[in-house]
Amino acid sequence: MVTSVDAAGIRMAVTDEGSGVPVLLVHGFPLSAGMWSKQVSVLQRTHRILAPDLRGFGGTEVTDGEVTMEQFADDLAALLDAMGVEEPIVLCGLSMGGYIALAFWHRHRERLKALILSDTRATADAPDAAKGRRDMADRVQREGPAPLVDQMLSKLISPATVRDRPQVRDELSSMMMGCAPVGVAAAARGLARRKDWTDQLGEIDLPALVLCGAEDAITTPAEMQRMAAAMPDARYVEIPGVGHVPPMEAPEAFNTEVRRFLDQLG
Ligand code: MLT
Repeated sequence: MVTSVDAAGIRMAVTDEGSGVPVLLVHGFPLSAGMWSKQVSVLQRTHRILAPDLRGFGGTEVTDGEVTMEQFADDLAALLDAMGVEEPIVLCGLSMGGYIALAFWHRHRERLKALILSDTRATADAPDAAKGRRDMADRVQREGPAPLVDQMLSKLISPATVRDRPQVRDELSSMMMGCAPVGVAAAARGLARRKDWTDQLGEIDLPALVLCGAEDAITTPAEMQRMAAAMPDARYVEIPGVGHVPPMEAPEAFNTEVRRFLDQLG
């Protein structure tokens, strides 16, 4: 069921299914909660699955300017408050959702039971990458999401996914093209300014599952292995044959790993 919730001064759309320990699924950029459809349908059998559209994406209100990872994290905490979720949650973030997970850990760690970090990184953008993002933000605001979709789409999924599950490319393309340009631009500016968490990874002593597509060209297995090794209670798992979006490219394998982790948490 998708509901509308007033939180942090905006109206947010959130999928809310199942009961049990809450699992908050935080989508990547520039996507929406729709990327988690194959997780919601399976994991709701044992857990309460909350999958919000982040500020500026999907059915959630758009705000202009810049939205930082900290703002997204605070939005999620406000959403949990507004929904009366008091018990510690498992936060699962993909890519930008992982950057937000790290900001959430920094600001709201008492609300966390465990972390699942998929295809993400702890580092900030290098100065030239940050400039490229800001330029792209201005362009998207003028021209719509098409230039960003052209730049990103081919890098998101593996050749095997293109061959064996061509619908994933179409789903990603329509999700990205459906984004509000102002929302995408604001998030891109926030991404360009995000913090480097590398030195704090050793303090994240929560149980963590670190997942990466073996052919992820954006956040590579080598980078994610280093990230997991720096976290005291993290397990690294690679999902073969897929790129940057394992929940959509290999939902069965992704769900198996997540299910195993959730079962171990109890
Ligand atoms: C994402 O999937 O969220 C993006 O690839 C994040 C990024 O551009 O750094």
